[in-house]
Amino acid sequence: MIITIDGPAAAGKGTLAASISKKYNYAYFDTGMVYRAVGLEMHLQNKDLSDQAAALQISQNLTFEHMHELAKNPDFRSALGGKNASIVSAYPEVRKALLKMQQDFAQNPVFADGRPAKGVVYDGRDTGTVVCPQADVKFFITASPEVRAERRYKEFLQKGISANYEDVLADVKARDERDANRATAPMKPAADAVIFDTSTLTIPEVLQKACEVIDEKQNH
Ligand code: DC
Repeated sequence: MIITIDGPAAAGKGTLAASISKKYNYAYFDTGMVYRAVGLEMHLQNKDLSDQAAALQISQNLTFEHMHELAKNPDFRSALGGKNASIVSAYPEVRKALLKMQQDFAQNPVFADGRPAKGVVYDGRDTGTVVCPQADVKFFITASPEVRAERRYKEFLQKGISANYEDVLADVKARDERDANRATAPMKPAADAVIFDTSTLTIPEVLQKACEVIDEKQNH
């Protein structure tokens, strides 16, 4: 069983993906990690983000193991890490180089401890359209930029990171613009995706609706 969850930053994809993978005992692949890894490695190697050749070389050499090593760096999940990931993810050659690693996971999904899994939940921007167009169930999770910025802003404050709501909102809008308007694999719902707007639904409500779709698919 392959389930894909796409949508803009801070729409609730990660929470939903983690809940679904736990409930059904499926592996989870957060595909934003591949672009965050390349963005961080560019920074660690003092490369300018506009250096597409360097980004391509890093992408070609990136392994699943090294990506998980980089994820331990505090900058990996930072707002800057997300922005840098979004910038390098717009390079078509980078996307091409990172596609196989993402697709291979569906052939042989494993949990973090290496045990094999019977299914996989992907989250990202193009997992239902490009990475796994053959997925059994596809979701597209969205919410207004204001609602998503408010969530991010509260997350920052909870983590003790000082933040300004207007800056967070501007950042969310800039990321949407870049992710949705790039030439290669732009963020958009697959034609056969089920779309949820989390501006009006709580995460438990979305989870319940998503499980109804998955159960229906499994029963047929
Ligand atoms: O989901 P995230 O915030 O970790 O993603 C970081 C960036 O990576 C996002 O702004 C765009 C890019 N990305 C992508 O282009 N395709 C994906 N499948 C996942 C992420």
